[in-house]
Amino acid sequence: MTIMKVIAFLGSPRKDGNTELLLKEAVRGIESAGLSIKTFRLNLMNIKPCQNCGGCDETGECIIDDDMTGLYQEIRTADRIILASPIFFFSVSAQTKILIDRCQSFWCEKYLLKKPISGGEHGRKGLFLMAGGMKKDIGIRCSEATVTAFFRTISVPEHSTLGYLGVDAKGAILEHPTALKEAFEAGSSLVL
Ligand SMILES: Cc1cc2nc3c(=O)[nH]c(=O)nc-3n(C[C@H](O)[C@H](O)[C@H](O)COP(=O)(O)O)c2cc1C
Repeated sequence: MTIMKVIAFLGSPRKDGNTELLLKEAVRGIESAGLSIKTFRLNLMNIKPCQNCGGCDETGECIIDDDMTGLYQEIRTADRIILASPIFFFSVSAQTKILIDRCQSFWCEKYLLKKPISGGEHGRKGLFLMAGGMKKDIGIRCSEATVTAFFRTISVPEHSTLGYLGVDAKGAILEHPTALKEAFEAGSSLVL
């Protein structure tokens, strides 16, 4: 058996913020299972928003050359993918949404060219982590709809979601009674 490849996208711009703290626990869970994980900080990357130029329609390949070029390959070859985002205006952050929209080329590849990314011997699974400051669960529901579309488009047929509301100040998630433990467990069970 090959070693499972695990990658994570951090969509929060806030260093050591609640989303990052959740992701760190999930990463610890993965590492406790003996695996390593590569994390991409979307806020530090140069990724242009989708231009709806149609450049990927017939090939399934995006024609924009930026940091997304490397991420396409990472997404294509990963067995486990974590997406971690704060809730902004009842949805995922702009940094996260830019990544998602640029996966339109995978949408063309899967649905127009009928060539979904094939899962390897481990299958493909996802985990979605999110933190929101308000106590309105529409933020979780809207984000979940977007992220479900993302995972299915990149041929990840199943994912689990952990969303925490009412965590607003930087580090507030540390006071949550169960969040960090649950994120750790979600990380370790993702790679079981
Ligand atoms: C631009 C912006 C929009 C926000 N919109 C929402 C929202 O719609 N719902 C919500 O629950 N929290 C909202 N928040 C609060 C953040 O989700 C909250 O502060 C969260 O803990 C940030 O996570 P981070 O520390 O990982 O950046 C918003 C914050 C910002 C900066």
